[in-house]
Order: sequence, then structure tokens, then C-alpha cells
Amino acid sequence: MKSLKEQIDPKKLPAHVAIIMDGNGRWAKGKGKFRIFGHQNGVNTVRKITEAGAELGIKYFTLYAFSTENWSRPQFEVKALMELLVDTIGKETPTLMKNNIRLQTIGNREDLPAKCNRQLDETIETTKNNTGLTLILALSYSAKWDMINAVKAISEKVKSGILDSNSISDLTINEHLSTAAYPHPELLIRTSGEQRISNFLLWEIAYSELYFSPKLWPDFTPEDLYAAIYDYQNRERRFGKISEQIAEKA
Ligand code: FPP
Repeated sequence: MKSLKEQIDPKKLPAHVAIIMDGNGRWAKGKGKFRIFGHQNGVNTVRKITEAGAELGIKYFTLYAFSTENWSRPQFEVKALMELLVDTIGKETPTLMKNNIRLQTIGNREDLPAKCNRQLDETIETTKNNTGLTLILALSYSAKWDMINAVKAISEKVKSGILDSNSISDLTINEHLSTAAYPHPELLIRTSGEQRISNFLLWEIAYSELYFSPKLWPDFTPEDLYAAIYDYQNRERRFGKISEQIAEKA
């Protein structure tokens, strides 16, 4: 009997998988520990899932690591998360190099502590020529924040006459979002059983397949990633068309 991984069709892989890593706090609470213990264990899952995705041949992973709304968590949790981020990125840079992974970020980097930005800049620079998986961390990110910035930039161009408002299209919006350099995710995974989008990539997931796993993020394994991808590969993506039109094209 073939393993789940072996059943995945390498020709039908999603190029871009986005993940809402949810459930660290509940995982820790269930073990009678502080929430940060959940985040620390969440880092292990980030490492395992990133390596598994890179090995499969996924080209882009976007991980929702810290949302605009997460700033309103208790200050000690925010501080601990920022420290964990600096520490993890620093320690994991050799692993990123070993696995040919390029690090990128989306989100409002101005809000992050200087130390965090220094480490991110350093690792982004070190990994910039890697050609395998691109790992995009969404940090101080929210889709509405991104869309507001895009609208502001587009209206400035219209105001100064660089852009004709009648020519604004789908592409214009794409080009002004912080995700402009990446394809839109074909698959969005959320862990922990919650079934919502929480202000993540709202424009980019217009036609993404959504997959909700009941597992809390620290318990999510490469096998669970394979299950999500296998499920995705067995769905029919119609993009507003009918089944027969999709069958004709195939
Ligand atoms: C959601 O769980 C998780 C987060 C807000 C943070 C995710 C961060 C990590 C996995 C660690 C750092 C990441 C990197 C890339 C180094 P939650 O706290 O909302 O859990 P809950 O819903 O159970 O409370």
C-alpha cells in the first residue's frame, strides 16, 4: 500500500501553500503550561513542515506568524513572540541554506522591534540567491492593512497623473499588494479546527482551496500536510466554470 506522500501527484502540486498556524495557546493550556510554551513548540512544527514542503517541491509557503491584531495580546506574550522570532530566524539560517530556502516577509516591518528587523534583514540577504522554496513570513500583517496601502499608492498615482483610473484592473491591485512578487496560493490550510480567515490574504485567496485541520499547530505533522495536499489534488477547481469545460481543457 502506497504511503500518503507517495500518492501525491508531483505534477499537480500547488505552487503556493498558505498556512494559518493556529492553536499554540490551547496546546500549551492543555498541558498546563504557559502559552509561550505552545509557541516554542510551534517553531518545531514550522521547521518540520517547511522541510517537508521543500522536499515535496512546493515553491512558496506563506505562514501567518503575527497578525496586525496580535499586537493587542498581553505585552509579555508579544515580547516573547518577538524574541522567539529573532532567536529562531538566527538559529535556523544554516538550515535554510542547507535546504536551499529563501526567506521573505510580508507585513508592516516598521512596527517590529529593531532587533527583529536586523535579524530578518540579515537572513533575507543571506538566503536571497536560494532557488528552492520561498518561505514568506507574514509579520505584523493583515490583508486589510495591505489593501489600504495598495489603495493609497494607486490613488497617489492617479492624482499625479501616472495612472488613468479607467485602466485600474485586477493586475493593478495585484501589483500594489505586498504579495506582488508571488503567485496566489492555490491552497490555504488552517489548523486548530477554527474555520475562518482572520484577515489573511483576502484578495489572494479569491480562488484558493480551503483546508481546515482539527490538529493544533504544535501537533500538525508532515503527514497532515500530505493529507491536505492530497485532498487538494482530488478537488475540482472550476474558477466559476462548469465541470465539462474543465474536463475539455484537461
Ligand atoms: C496562533 O496560535 C499562533 C500565533 C499567533 C503565532 C505563531 C508563531 C509561531 C508558530 C512561532 C514563531 C514563528 C516563526 C515562523 C519562527 P494562538 O496563540 O492563537 O493559539 P490559540 O488560538 O490556541 O490561543
